Amino acid sequence: MKQRILVTGGTGFIGSHTVVELQNSGYEVVIVDNLSNSKADAVDHIEQITGIRPAFEEVDCCDYAAMDAVFAKYPGIQGIIHFAASKAVGESVQKPLMYYRNNLVSLINILELMPKHGVKGIIFSSSCTVYGQPDILPVTEQAPIKKAESPYGNTKQINEEIVRDTVASGSPIQAILLRYFNPIGAHPTALIGELPNGVPQNLIPFLTQTAIGIREKLSVFGDDYNTPDGSCIRDYIYVVDLAKAHVVAMERILQDKQKEKVEVFNIGTGRGLSVLELIHAFESATGVKLNYQITGRRAGDIEQVWADPSFANNELGWKADTPIEDTLRSAWKWQLHLRETGVQ
Ligand code: WQD
Repeated sequence: MKQRILVTGGTGFIGSHTVVELQNSGYEVVIVDNLSNSKADAVDHIEQITGIRPAFEEVDCCDYAAMDAVFAKYPGIQGIIHFAASKAVGESVQKPLMYYRNNLVSLINILELMPKHGVKGIIFSSSCTVYGQPDILPVTEQAPIKKAESPYGNTKQINEEIVRDTVASGSPIQAILLRYFNPIGAHPTALIGELPNGVPQNLIPFLTQTAIGIREKLSVFGDDYNTPDGSCIRDYIYVVDLAKAHVVAMERILQDKQKEKVEVFNIGTGRGLSVLELIHAFESATGVKLNYQITGRRAGDIEQVWADPSFANNELGWKADTPIEDTLRSAWKWQLHLRETGVQ
């Protein structure tokens, strides 16, 4: 009998890639998504990739009654992976209350419903943004949590505390918090990938849209940072490697391998790359010249962060080992696919 996993935000960028890897590992998946930042045809594309159509319910996680009905409709859900959240740093500064309501209430509903429906554990989608600008690099899970730079980052910090306090109160659930670094790229089939609404805020979608001619020029937000080439440094992780981390984390929960009821893992490559290094890597990996200019810094950007992933590597037996050139080629192949299919 296949174990049933609920994936909130499962039609989104990271969610859809994770559903594919869960199905590849033999799990039965139920997707819940309100389609506020994704499209329902992601379900079709997942089915095209794996040959298995996940169940899909268009529901908002903030709607307690609707979520309760989903658990009743699909009995025996063993675990939950909670991706559903608003995630644009800049937008969160403009609309803090929307971010606090959406990102906190959705998690609270899920944590309340889990014991009621016998769900064993949850994997929560957290972010390296909780570290702010680390004092020591690479950053480990023991690094201090610094004051968030945005309401978005603050919701991630508060969510982690909500999970910890709920487990500490005696709730019969287990949890793994995965702190992502910068997820990029697309599935090798180019059937799923990152498809932001409107003008992309994140680097890679803007970069590939510039490369294909949708955007005239990529702005590099500052080259006067205290880094070797002056541009910011990040830990860019292939989204499929990130998705696979969720499968091993879920197995850790379901097979009772956790050493604590709440565990935290940095999910990164351990390799820092600057914006300019990434641009040059894209050009050499694809042969496509990129039109870019150096502009002023973007408010809220931290200078440099990359992971020490050794805890995840050793404890989970998981490693992000896809070469950056392959990852960038997958992002480019996805952008070409969007043009060929008339999506963008
Ligand atoms: C990366 C680097 C920019 C765009 C945020 C969130 C994180 C996660 C990913 C949700 C920075 C530079 C960017 C551009 C640029 N969010 N840049 N020109 O800000 O590291 O992380 O998104 O999952 O939680 O904090 O990602 O891709 O926006 O920026 O120069 O047009 O690229 O300054 O140095 P970021 P990003």
